[in-house]
Amino acid sequence: MKNYPFYLTWTAQNNALKIDIKGSKGPCYITNDGRKLYDLSSTSYQAAFGHSYKPIKDAIKKQLNTLPISSPKGIFDLKEDATKKLLSLINLPGKIFYTTSGAESVENALKIARQITGKNIVLARENSYHGATLGALSITGDWRNKDHQTVSKWTKRIPDPIDDPKAIALEKLILKVGAEKIAAICLETFVGGNGVFSAPKSWWNALNKLKKKYNFLIILDEVVSGFGRTGKAFGFQHFSIRPDIICMAKIITGGYIPFGALWTTKKISKVYDTKVLSCGLTNYAHPLGLAAMSAVIDDITSDQFKINFSNLELKLIEAKDKLSQLSTVSDVRQVGLLMAVDLKTKPAFEKFIEQEILVAIVGQRLIIAPPYTMTPAKLKSLLNRVYNILKEKDEN
Ligand SMILES: Cc1ncc(COP(=O)(O)O)c(C=O)c1O
Repeated sequence: MKNYPFYLTWTAQNNALKIDIKGSKGPCYITNDGRKLYDLSSTSYQAAFGHSYKPIKDAIKKQLNTLPISSPKGIFDLKEDATKKLLSLINLPGKIFYTTSGAESVENALKIARQITGKNIVLARENSYHGATLGALSITGDWRNKDHQTVSKWTKRIPDPIDDPKAIALEKLILKVGAEKIAAICLETFVGGNGVFSAPKSWWNALNKLKKKYNFLIILDEVVSGFGRTGKAFGFQHFSIRPDIICMAKIITGGYIPFGALWTTKKISKVYDTKVLSCGLTNYAHPLGLAAMSAVIDDITSDQFKINFSNLELKLIEAKDKLSQLSTVSDVRQVGLLMAVDLKTKPAFEKFIEQEILVAIVGQRLIIAPPYTMTPAKLKSLLNRVYNILKEKDEN
């Protein structure tokens, strides 16, 4: 076993799954032995434009030649224009704070929520991931929360919305914890890596009422579900949710530059007209990130994008129906270009690699999130390969 001079993430180093990469092209990584690996989960859900998308690369290159670095204090046209584009995509009045990752977006959302409300408890779902930094990890409910001595006394786990469609158990929890201590609830609008679950419409409606009644903020984590992934610009646009803060990252730049953002309401931004916003980072509103984000927004708001997206979604829906029939599959959930396939046993990563497919395997589950730039015919053929792998398992 070769001992590398760097760590691989979320794994014991001796058991780490690895892919040898020489380069990448379109929706594929190219391995050292010249094979293609089709990126069926858009890597970690960020590479929604594949690996060599000209509009994003050109935007970054152009920016590199004009203003590659900026002071956080910098005022320049791109910062203003790209932010206006993002605000119009969100379609709610407010202001944007920039970061360089999803975790930092959540981290700053927690800071702002606590500062604004003067309260410290945050309600969160058990089945969730919000990022690897200590604050984001403290509200994360999955296995990654363990062993990190997060401030657990400031997080309260809500009854899962799927089991509590009218949020009755949620209200009981609020009363038990004490509304005067609750700063916010933080939720992935669509749980991403933990299985593509949302909440019933009735739950979201009840949440709006509870927020008003008990005066806490709604923080939406749209790090996976943002920028078109679910068939709307943002996941919350499927429901009538009234968020106070929205966390974004990943597809915001297609993964070409580490970048993130959070949106706050106008009401919150007004507070900071006079109160010190004690949040910031060296690479705040990085020009290369802004340039890539602007190209991403232009792309996902184009007519061509919508047509290709619908065609890709149809292929995913067809595959969902076929996969659901297999005896090795216990459930399939899909929204837009995001699909979870629950299996009865843990699938073997190598089986997919043999078929030139790189797919996210989370426990006994596949998460499929194809690049938007893939052709429908290619997606169909890759999903057939997935079907055949799972069918073979079925027959063994
Ligand atoms: C829903 C969600 N929120 C936040 C994060 C953290 O993002 P990052 O890894 O960019 O810090 C992730 C990462 O997978 C995520 O899936």
